[in-house]
Amino acid sequence: MVKKMTVPTIRDHKVVQGIDPLVMVTAYDAPGARMVDEAGVDMILVGDSLAMVVLGYEDTLQVTVDDIAHHTAAVARTNPQALVVADMPWMSYHVSTEDTLRNAAQLIRAGAGAVKLEGGRRRLPMIEALVAAEIPVMGHVGLTPQSVHAMGGFKVQGRSTKAALDLVDAAKALVHAGCFSLVLEGVPAEVAALVTEAVDVSTIGIGAGPHCDGQVLVFHDVLGIEKRVLPKFVRRYADLHGTGVAALKEFAADVRSGEFPAPQEVYGLCDEVVDELKLYGLG
Ligand code: KIV
Repeated sequence: MVKKMTVPTIRDHKVVQGIDPLVMVTAYDAPGARMVDEAGVDMILVGDSLAMVVLGYEDTLQVTVDDIAHHTAAVARTNPQALVVADMPWMSYHVSTEDTLRNAAQLIRAGAGAVKLEGGRRRLPMIEALVAAEIPVMGHVGLTPQSVHAMGGFKVQGRSTKAALDLVDAAKALVHAGCFSLVLEGVPAEVAALVTEAVDVSTIGIGAGPHCDGQVLVFHDVLGIEKRVLPKFVRRYADLHGTGVAALKEFAADVRSGEFPAPQEVYGLCDEVVDELKLYGLG
């Protein structure tokens, strides 16, 4: 039996101990989850990037708890070895602790082993309430896409001395409140190094340089499923868009030329039934 990845294992994973960094990749459906799990990742994130890479929105603000729960359930049904982390959408943890608990519970019941939420000190009461209800929380600081309007765009954070120190401070507070891991997004590598050293839980970077305890990327970016221009921190490992379009063009050409379907791709009747149907007009 394959051993499942657990929250305590992720929490204690610090590369300073001389171990390999953790790997997290997003997935939003069963085939995607099977691919990333077969590749041996440690965590599958059902990210609210769902809004942009699957549902076609310009930012992540449009997805709802129902959307994330629907996709989390699809990922969880594949029974992955990796820990499934579900993103809490914008406004699902901003109104009240009761609301936050109810929304997080929906994601856990959909099959997540933990939830992730964005933001610094303002989130502390929500994180404490979730942890008190036995719901593991991954924090997310730095460039937090749900704050796109407040930040004035998707901009690298923590560039000044004050901003960098504030970020380290916020990270420590989140861990003190009970976060078992932190995503550091869109921050200078030096700032990520400071945070990684300051906290005793794993840090997972995206656009945060190499000094983290793990790295996360979006499934569609790693595999080149879209042709869109990617941020500098993304490395594309395949061109599934190109391969897919070429395959679909071949299919269209085969249909139009009559090459598809071929005899071996067709169901047939036995001669006896064919003869009988001839009585009913079969040519
Ligand atoms: O939604 C998402 O995909 C994320 C990652 C970019 C960390 O939050």
